[in-house]
Amino acid sequence: MNDDKLNSLLRQVKYPGFSKDVVSFGLIQNVKESDNSVELGVKFSSEKEDVRQEILANLEQVLRAGGYEKVSIEIIQGAAQASAGQQEATAPPGIPGVKHTIAVASGKGGVGKSTVAANLAAALRKQGHTVGILDLDVFGPSLPITLGVHEVPKVLEGNKLQPIIKYDMSLMSLGFLLTDSSPVIWRGAMVTKMVSQFLFDVAWGDLDYLILDLPPGTGDVQLTLVQQVALTGAVIVTTPQDLALKDVERGANMFEKVNTPVLGIIENMSYHICTNCGHESQIFSSGGGAKESKRLNVPLLAKIPLNEDIMKAGENGEPLVIHLPESEAAQLFRDVANQVHELVN
Ligand SMILES: Nc1ncnc2c1ncn2[C@@H]1O[C@H](COP(=O)(O)OP(=O)(O)OP(=O)(O)O)[C@@H](O)[C@H]1O
Ligand SMILES: [Mg+2]
Repeated sequence: MNDDKLNSLLRQVKYPGFSKDVVSFGLIQNVKESDNSVELGVKFSSEKEDVRQEILANLEQVLRAGGYEKVSIEIIQGAAQASAGQQEATAPPGIPGVKHTIAVASGKGGVGKSTVAANLAAALRKQGHTVGILDLDVFGPSLPITLGVHEVPKVLEGNKLQPIIKYDMSLMSLGFLLTDSSPVIWRGAMVTKMVSQFLFDVAWGDLDYLILDLPPGTGDVQLTLVQQVALTGAVIVTTPQDLALKDVERGANMFEKVNTPVLGIIENMSYHICTNCGHESQIFSSGGGAKESKRLNVPLLAKIPLNEDIMKAGENGEPLVIHLPESEAAQLFRDVANQVHELVN
């Protein structure tokens, strides 16, 4: 049997709960095959026994149906488990009422995470889903600007914070609680505590999607943040420069540590279209996002141009998807939302 056929058999096995297959998630390793026998290793990213058993059973079934008489599957202890082994691996809780929690992250600051988070959320909302956004950037909250919200949230009975509603989405940001004179000298432990409060003491209600806008970087603070809650997946935003791209891998490693699939990469400020002549120019080197996504085996969800409208919309507190829904860039964000929805449902 040739490699392509074996590969397409393996790709029939979807990761439980995802439309993406186990090969795309990078679970399948050390494949050896001869005429009618196949050996392979599976590096699990989930600790859940039922998920593991389902994947193993489906692999065996598909391979046998594909004509292999001898199928041997070995479980490989992954990097995720090796590091989890040092601290007992306990799955973090999900947020009650929230179906999918998606983190938007980047290794480098200023690459457009908050812009992507706001537009992805708005696009999902337009597609009819109920959506919340949680701004976890405790060092420089941006929701107040990106979505133009300056209200102070009400505290409800049971000490729950009531999210602010804007554009028919539920929003919460530390920026809503800080005043200009508040000290923003947060230490790691304070950040962690503040975040779990945010995640679990906000009256989110029933949401299809909660989008987390993470602070830039992939260090301990970010790792602690993403460890607090069961994430459905992560989207990594980068710009095409080499320096930003290097951080994509760090981001992917961070999510691997917490068993969260990277749903894809968004290359932002990817190219520039001249507003006068329509000429498309590559300001930075091109193709980096595509290369990186291939290397990490995750989709490149979009290449978003450097675009004045995106910037202006963001600064006026109205995501482009809402401000100029017919623009090409808004269409790109809607495509991202479609793909994310596809990947997690
Ligand atoms: N594609 C784009 N075209 C033009 N301007 C953009 C684009 N994407 C983002 N911007 C602008 O770049 C600036 C930084 O974007 P944004 O705040 O979304 O980045 P960030 O990654 O969240 O930053 P931080 O790391 O500080 O949280 C903003 O002024 C935003 O309006
Ligand atoms: Mg930001």
